[in-house]
Amino acid sequence: MVALFRFLRILTAALRYRLDALLPHHKLPWGLSVLLKLCALLPNNTQSRGERLRHFFEDLGPVFIKFGQLLSTRPDLIPPDIIEELDHLQDNVAPFDETQSRQLIEQALGSSVEELFADFETTPLASASVAQVHAATLKDGKAVVVKVIRPGIEHTIEKDIALLMVLARLVQRFALDGQRLRPVEVVEEYEHTIFDELNLQREAANASQLRRNFANSPLLYVPEVHWDYTRSNVMVMERIYGVPVTDMDALAEQDTNMKLLAERGVEIFFQQVFDHNFFHADMHPGNIFVSHEHPQSPQYIAVDMAIVGSLTQADQYYMARNLLAIFRRDYRLVAELHVQSGWVPEDTPIHDFEAAIRTVCEPIFEKPLKEISFGQIVITLFQTARRFNMEVQPQLVLLQKTLLNIEGLGRQLYPDLDLWQTAHPFLERWIKDRFHPRNLWQQMKRYGPELMEQAPQMPHKIAGALDQLQQLGDLAPQLQQAAEMINEQKAGASKTRRRLLITTLAIAAAAITALPATGIALNEVPLHSWALVAIGGWAWFNR
Ligand SMILES: Nc1ncnc2c1ncn2[C@@H]1O[C@H](COP(=O)(O)OP(=O)(O)O)[C@@H](O)[C@H]1O
Ligand SMILES: [Mg+2]
Repeated sequence: MVALFRFLRILTAALRYRLDALLPHHKLPWGLSVLLKLCALLPNNTQSRGERLRHFFEDLGPVFIKFGQLLSTRPDLIPPDIIEELDHLQDNVAPFDETQSRQLIEQALGSSVEELFADFETTPLASASVAQVHAATLKDGKAVVVKVIRPGIEHTIEKDIALLMVLARLVQRFALDGQRLRPVEVVEEYEHTIFDELNLQREAANASQLRRNFANSPLLYVPEVHWDYTRSNVMVMERIYGVPVTDMDALAEQDTNMKLLAERGVEIFFQQVFDHNFFHADMHPGNIFVSHEHPQSPQYIAVDMAIVGSLTQADQYYMARNLLAIFRRDYRLVAELHVQSGWVPEDTPIHDFEAAIRTVCEPIFEKPLKEISFGQIVITLFQTARRFNMEVQPQLVLLQKTLLNIEGLGRQLYPDLDLWQTAHPFLERWIKDRFHPRNLWQQMKRYGPELMEQAPQMPHKIAGALDQLQQLGDLAPQLQQAAEMINEQKAGASKTRRRLLITTLAIAAAAITALPATGIALNEVPLHSWALVAIGGWAWFNR
């Protein structure tokens, strides 16, 4: 009943913003088509399609708003005019009230807020669709923030995702570009990330890992998690006091080295993706701050580690080589790498693929390097690869999205940012380092224990394997023999059949000629006897 009510609400919102105009009438079954024709009687909406979609998402609440935000990070799927509008989606959700926050914290941690904290600010620092953040002070005087999951949000998400899925199926089936947009896949991916965001224990674990990866780094600081006060719906972490990265005035006021800041953003991205293989994948400006300390050597501070990504070792390697190959304009190699990595099928016509990549990349390289969007190149490349049946790979999508974020942020801070200048030496070094004896030694050390564990059985296993090989070798003449036997048998079988046929015919002839001697006329033999003879003969013949 509730779901029906919600569905009707979605339908009215869709009609209010005349989203029916985005559906191609000729593709629809006649019933729907007639309904849509009736929609034409509704008041016209003169806003652009992007604006209409944005209002539609805003009308339907947090789960839809977040979904719209997710779509705005998919330039590989969504046209630029719509992305521009969806970029403005804000989830201004009313905070949930203080007593609820307290109740949730007390239930989760098993003590009263007064027992847990020396001070707890009831007005939240921030309130979003999934969680709300309060400032507090621990008994030992440490300043912390307490993140609490919004009560009942899980149920709302479940319901809304189910409805989104219905819409996705409709779009997939009926929208102009429905197949290519892969709406069902996009909603499934969204479901995955939004449910991950509900588990603060998971977010805290990500934060701990990222903090460890950047321990003592001048580039990035990650606040510490207070594990004693962390559960799946409540997380307590060190409070940070940085400048929000979008506050350009404050950054200028503290005389921040903006060029270095922008470059460090790029460096952090590459370090995370290639050195640590663990990247913060929600790098939107609201989650990034800049430390007040030593602004000439500026350090970022990151919060909100709900979404992280990592690549397989193979994807890491192919990604690095691909980026280098693109910037050398070695399109043949780019095409080959896509096949080697398994991103496109093995039977892809390399020559055509190479030509397609050249066609989309050459115009981009017309511009001076600092104007080239690195993220755009990766997106264009994947779009091209998709035409050659590249599967959507969530981790690569996450990477592409994060790269776009970092690049956008960097250019906002320092418009002349030349991303390639930072990326190029990094990637060259990384590729070289992979085969450096030190790294090979590291790998040995890492996988050494397993090798050692198996070492005592090694001679035995090797001997076994050799034995098997030997046996295979020995088998060769036997296999040959078997093949010959099969051939012989085939020839033999047809000979036997011929003999059987002659015998059957002879017996039948003998029986028929002997009939007069038994006193039975041929026409007196009952039909079922003939049938039995026929079946018997046939069975014998087919023995
Ligand atoms: N450790 C922290 N110290 C200070 N402020 C924080 C901290 N963590 C989060 N915040 C503030 O709370 C806001 C929301 O927190 P965040 O973890 O990003 O939640 P959400 O998942 O809802 O985006 C942040 O944008 C930031 O302003
Ligand atoms: Mg956030």
